[in-house]
Order: sequence, then structure tokens, then C-alpha cells
Amino acid sequence: MNEVWEWTCGKFEDADKMSSPLQGATMKFLAEWQQAKRVLEIGCFTGYSALAWYEATESTKAEIITLELDPKMIAASRRTFDKYKVNDRITLIEGPAQASLAKLSGTFDIIFVDANKEGYEGYVKYILDKQLLSPHGFIMCDNIFARGMTISTDANPTLPEKVRPYWTECGKALKRFNTFCKNDTRIDTILLPVYDGVTLIKWKPSTFLELAN
Ligand SMILES: C[S@@+](CC[C@H](N)C(=O)[O-])C[C@H]1O[C@@H](n2cnc3c(N)ncnc32)[C@H](O)[C@@H]1O
Repeated sequence: MNEVWEWTCGKFEDADKMSSPLQGATMKFLAEWQQAKRVLEIGCFTGYSALAWYEATESTKAEIITLELDPKMIAASRRTFDKYKVNDRITLIEGPAQASLAKLSGTFDIIFVDANKEGYEGYVKYILDKQLLSPHGFIMCDNIFARGMTISTDANPTLPEKVRPYWTECGKALKRFNTFCKNDTRIDTILLPVYDGVTLIKWKPSTFLELAN
């Protein structure tokens, strides 16, 4: 994982899209704890987080499906998966995430939502409607603070002007997403104030019982 992190930092100007090593360690902790057998990731980039899921599920030999749209990032992540010989359990599905989601069946124990921020609400709604989340599973959504812009456009005076318009739009979309999470009666949600804001979502116990019966 460290090598991929360093390679990505050296090669991609927008390497800050990648999870940090500390975040990678957190993801590994959660996946080991969860004993996940199937993991879905929306937003692959160079494959760093997919490798974290892979390493964390050595004992359960989980199937990991990761979705990516950008041809440059598809090539980069394929390079990662080939180099580290992890194609036995990682499958990369190319194309827009919403269309890729429609190809999936069964349930996932961990679903990591880390792609285009205006898509989060649609992805999570679809996952819940189609019951792609297993009864004991959780969804983890990254960048919920959008560098502070979800809270207020004044929240981050040092945000570079070059990226401010992008994160401002992300902030608006994530505000709508937060409202969706708060109002959806099927789920419990917690927004952790760590990294760039991480939301965890699980089924409510009542919904869980309905699903189990
Ligand atoms: C934040 S990066 C993912 C980082 C990665 N999960 C990690 O931690 O290393 C988001 C990725 O989502 C991809 N993406 C953006 N919009 C997408 C879409 N509609 N469908 C699929 N992938 C998309 C981008 O090309 C980018 O590689």
C-alpha cells in the first residue's frame, strides 16, 4: 500500500483525491473488524483504497468490486492490481458508477462511496432501494465536509482559489446528501468529524429485522 501511495503522490497532480495512509489504516481496521466477505467501492482512482480492502480481508478472502469512470485512472488502477497480483479478488468495473451499480446483485458488507460528490445521494438511495447493503453491513462515505464547504463557504479561508469553485459545488451537493441521510427512515447515520468528514450508514434495527425475515 505504501508504494502505491508514494507512486500516486509522485505521478498525479490531484493525488489528494487518494485516501491518506491514516485513513487507509482506519479502513483496514473496520474491514477486519467487520469480517467482510464482499466489499464494493465507488471511485477507485489508483487502487490505493481497493488494496486496503484487499489486505484487510486476507482471512475472509473477500470479493472486492471497485467502480471507475476515468480511462486514465482505469489504466493506473489496472497497473496497481497487476503489479501487486490482486486480480484474484479485485474486479474493476469500468464506466459511470450509476450504470455499473445496475449490473450488481447480492449484498455487500462494506460499501465505500468515494466518487463524484453530486452522485452520493443517487448512489446511496439506489443501494438502499435495491438492498445491496447486507443486514449487518455499513456504507462509508468520504469527503462529507468538502474541505469545509459543506459547512460554509467561509469555513476554509486557506483553500486554494483554483479548487474553491469545485469544492463549493461539492459542498452544496453534500449538504443535500446530509439532508437525505437525516430524513431517510430506513437508516441510522453518523458523521464522524475525521479526515475530510466520513459518514457511516447502517440499516436501522427495524429495517434490518424486516430484511432478515
Ligand atoms: C476520490 S477519488 C477515489 C479515491 C480512492 N477511493 C482512494 O481512496 O484511493 C474519486 C474517483 O472517482 C472517479 N469517478 C468520478 N466520477 C465517477 C463516476 N460517475 N463513476 C465512476 N467513477 C467516478 C474519479 O475518476 C476518481 O478516480
